[in-house]
Amino acid sequence: MFDPIEKLKEHLRHASVSTDSAFKSGMDGSREFLGDLFTEMGLSVEIVDTDLHPIVLARREGDPSWPHVVIYGHYDVQPADPLELWESDPFEPVERNGRLYARGAADNKGPQMAHIAAVAELLEEEPDLPLRITFLIEGEEEIGSPSLLPFLEGRKDELSEADLVLLSDTLSPSSDQLVVTVGLRGIVALEVEFEGPKSDLHSGLHGGAVYNPLQALFEVCSSLHDEENRVAVPGFYEDVAEVEEWEREQLKALGSDEDAYKSFLGVEAFHAHPGYSPFEAIRYLPTLEFNGMGGGYQGEGSKTIVPSKAMAKITCRLVGNQDPFKVGALVKQAILDRTPAGIKATIEMGHEGSPYLVVPPGRPNTPENQSDRLARAFQATEKAISENFEKPALFLREGGSIPIIADIKRVLGLDSVMVGLFLPEDNLHAPNESLNLDVLKKGIRVSKSVLKALAADS
Ligand code: BES
Ligand code: MN
Repeated sequence: MFDPIEKLKEHLRHASVSTDSAFKSGMDGSREFLGDLFTEMGLSVEIVDTDLHPIVLARREGDPSWPHVVIYGHYDVQPADPLELWESDPFEPVERNGRLYARGAADNKGPQMAHIAAVAELLEEEPDLPLRITFLIEGEEEIGSPSLLPFLEGRKDELSEADLVLLSDTLSPSSDQLVVTVGLRGIVALEVEFEGPKSDLHSGLHGGAVYNPLQALFEVCSSLHDEENRVAVPGFYEDVAEVEEWEREQLKALGSDEDAYKSFLGVEAFHAHPGYSPFEAIRYLPTLEFNGMGGGYQGEGSKTIVPSKAMAKITCRLVGNQDPFKVGALVKQAILDRTPAGIKATIEMGHEGSPYLVVPPGRPNTPENQSDRLARAFQATEKAISENFEKPALFLREGGSIPIIADIKRVLGLDSVMVGLFLPEDNLHAPNESLNLDVLKKGIRVSKSVLKALAADS
């Protein structure tokens, strides 16, 4: 059996940044690493070509009566910039104080390794384990998974007969308490360009005669929220799902501390939607965020112009039953309706993904037709977490998005059991990303127990 931490380090040395074509060799290397590892484990490996980054599929086939679990992960990582803020090379993993520092350590190579190592150990111990396993590791998660939907549609027959998806690409609050994530937010991205005069103008010669596109953009953008931070777009909240009482109880059991959260974020006040705590707002409500705005002169000193153009990048996080296409269209229309005369607005719709909710067994709103195998997986996960961590598992929705999880449900009919193996202090998408190695080791044990419990059902 290989050493999971050494293997993880090997994986992290491949700089697999999916958004930047300069990192092609890192993407290729990461895929080869996974292919070799799965082959060593005795799985049959298929590299599936896509329009962009190929998908790694690795299968352990078996008797059709055996349970079948799909284990999802992504081998791509976010860019490491700004590099000067890293204490060590982002693609040369180092251990410090029980943590492994590298880009992708937490999102997603470390948590994914928990399941790979669990399968490797289990197959060594029980070569006849009656369980079918399909690893599905994609290379485009951080750029919105454009190739995965066509892939799922093409492989529908093969994959839809699986029982469930198991993955770790979500958050837990602390190293002594794991969360089983039961909700993900969806997302829809828009890019807005406002064009005024056909070129930058001398603001002395022409200023005062025309609508400044930066001013127009700020005015329109600031109209998209009210003073209390509700999104001021007609129909925006229409399909927001109810929150069940058991969910509120679970959030209470988390026992969140608002002051600690403020100091963690470095802010002096919250700005959550009225009637919602910050912890509720990130889980239960949609948002409209400005991710970037720009236009005009940004260099040193001053430049007296009326700029020709201004731009804004916007993403909305969605919850419950919201449809990203519908919400995207509402936001686009609101911006167009509010664009003043003299400004030409161009709005491009970007990537999108639906929100996802799953209800564990035994809750008042558990679907009556929930499969025994899914129920068993949730129960085994809860049990394994309480055996390996100090505190019992919590079942919580999460603010982040993994758009493909809703697609998997819609196209393949499969629900996902999501075990959170990264922590708030792991610096996802930020400099000095790291993974708590104790959580990784315990995560391997949890995954092993879940897989064993599933196999026992054959
Ligand atoms: N692992 C994250 C999603 C996540 C983050 C779940 C925090 C729970 C808590 C994932 O890799 C990610 O960053 N997804 C993107 C998706 C987007 C690019 C479509 C996100 O949430 O911004
Ligand atoms: Mn991720």
